[in-house]
Amino acid sequence: MKNQYQYDLLVIGAGAAGLSLALRLAQRFRIAVLAKGALQESSTLYAQGGISAVIDKEDSLESHIADTMKAGAGLCDETVVRYTVEHAREAINWLVDQGVEFTPGERNQGFHLTREGGHSHRRVLHAADSTGLAIETSLSEQARRHTNIDLFEYHNVIDLITDDAKTRCLGAYVLDTRQQKVGVFRARSVVLATGGASKVYLYTSNPDVSTGDGIAIAWRAGCRVANMAFIQFHPTCLYHPKAKSFLISEAVRGEGGKLLLPDGTPFMHKFDPRGELAPRDIVARAIDHEMKRVGADYVLLDISYKPAAFIKSHFPTIYQKCLEFGFDMTREPLPVVPAAHYTCGGVVTDLRGRTDLPGLYAIGEVAHTGLHGANRMASNSLLECVVFAFSAARDLAANLASMPLPPALPEWDESRVTDSDEEVVVAHNWDELRRFMWDYVGIVRSNKRLERALRRVLLLESEIAEYYGNFRVTNDLLELRNLVLVARLIILSALLRKESRGLHYTLDYPTRDDSQPPQNTVLDPRRPSEEVRRLIAHALQLQTHP
Ligand code: FAD
Ligand code: SIN
Repeated sequence: MKNQYQYDLLVIGAGAAGLSLALRLAQRFRIAVLAKGALQESSTLYAQGGISAVIDKEDSLESHIADTMKAGAGLCDETVVRYTVEHAREAINWLVDQGVEFTPGERNQGFHLTREGGHSHRRVLHAADSTGLAIETSLSEQARRHTNIDLFEYHNVIDLITDDAKTRCLGAYVLDTRQQKVGVFRARSVVLATGGASKVYLYTSNPDVSTGDGIAIAWRAGCRVANMAFIQFHPTCLYHPKAKSFLISEAVRGEGGKLLLPDGTPFMHKFDPRGELAPRDIVARAIDHEMKRVGADYVLLDISYKPAAFIKSHFPTIYQKCLEFGFDMTREPLPVVPAAHYTCGGVVTDLRGRTDLPGLYAIGEVAHTGLHGANRMASNSLLECVVFAFSAARDLAANLASMPLPPALPEWDESRVTDSDEEVVVAHNWDELRRFMWDYVGIVRSNKRLERALRRVLLLESEIAEYYGNFRVTNDLLELRNLVLVARLIILSALLRKESRGLHYTLDYPTRDDSQPPQNTVLDPRRPSEEVRRLIAHALQLQTHP
């Protein structure tokens, strides 16, 4: 049959999570790794600050655990936090074995450790200010060399294939976006490593691939999704019309960078005793508050008082990029604004990366493991990618050989669709969705704004579903279909949380509710709760009778 591929394992995503997992299993199994764009294009590639691990003699595992739990505002799963922190050293050693060159410490001994928000010790290993580039380059080179790994670039997964009762994952339908052909991949097991969903917001530090595909795909296959309200806004992205929210690493603040109002007044001390190194939710909200209070388009981040040689050696990429935009950070402060950065919620998994659907795993930013709670601590994400790639690999190594290879699967049916005659609808809906998510579901929320967003998202969803049913699939349409679903899950999750906690701040419930134990917001596609049904019915009613 044409367009049929068969592997032991199908890994969807070629960032830190997907590549680490594939490399761990490639000695024993035939593996396909899919990337939606060029192989390296991923959030991993752009990671700057580093990866956290307890290395310093003055530091301790207990301290890393306590800092992570504190940043997570009462919603971290302590078992998962402990597991991750305890496996950090193993992850670092493996990355070094793969060729990742972390910046060495003084006199070339050990590793240089930087500091970021929420960490009470220096514990962030880095490769200057382009840690992600070092990791992605090493891992993708290893994967390219491996004879048991086949890499498929520009292959966009449309949906998973399951048995009729959705009791097992059998493979996936995949659009080859260069050939415009849909192929069928079948495998004993499938791993989602598709990264986050920050592209659902107008302003984001993330690359174009972060459209939440894995979350939407898993949801459609019947998997639960948790804590989608907790979207992390990075406090400091460069403010420049052409900079596309280029990130200015938290390590700049870790090494002494100060936040100032446009007139040069410091303000972080008013919001938290940790000042610039408070966790990100606090810093982003403080900036948002001050910008609105004084009517500014940006605030300033100033490290220019440090020696120029220090800045250039610690932050060579950021220094160079800012120069291209006309800012010399060794001489002047940088204009910065917050932007959507990280999806703390995601597909519910256990410690082995297993999802609700047998045969389907989720690892990395797409997953909700319980590590980050209501707010991820800086540099814990790359760590989670590698640690959970290992734990899922261990589980797969023990079970994959005994999992049967699915039979040949039906080809993708295009008999009832035509080429679109109105591509403009897709482009328009993309813009509309990202703008109202930014305006109504951003750093500061309210019931009124969220309900307004829900009405709009349901309308868009129905338009896009109709479009999807009638026209041949394209990359943009597939991404939009996923984004609009993920947007609904974020809005619902935010409406269900009747308090402010971590990254979710709402004017209607401005304080944290500690009167009872905190709960994750878990949404189940098979069993929507009464409250979810009510919220949707209410929004649909207002659409017709505003
Ligand atoms: P990604 O690296 O995003 O990879 C996703 C992969 O999935 C890509 O290959 C993509 O093509 C593929 N994919 C997506 N959808 C599909 C589809 N439908 N079909 C096929 N393939 C698909 N974290 C830290 O810990 N430390 C840092 O210093 C740090 N800095 C950051 C700086 C920036 C600018 C950004 C954006 C993030 C940063 N983060 C950092 C967060 C961290 O980089 C990410 O959370 C992490 O890299 C995610 O890795 P991943 O493997 O889960 O996904
Ligand atoms: C940064 O360098 O500021 C990003 C770190 C992270 O997201 O963990």
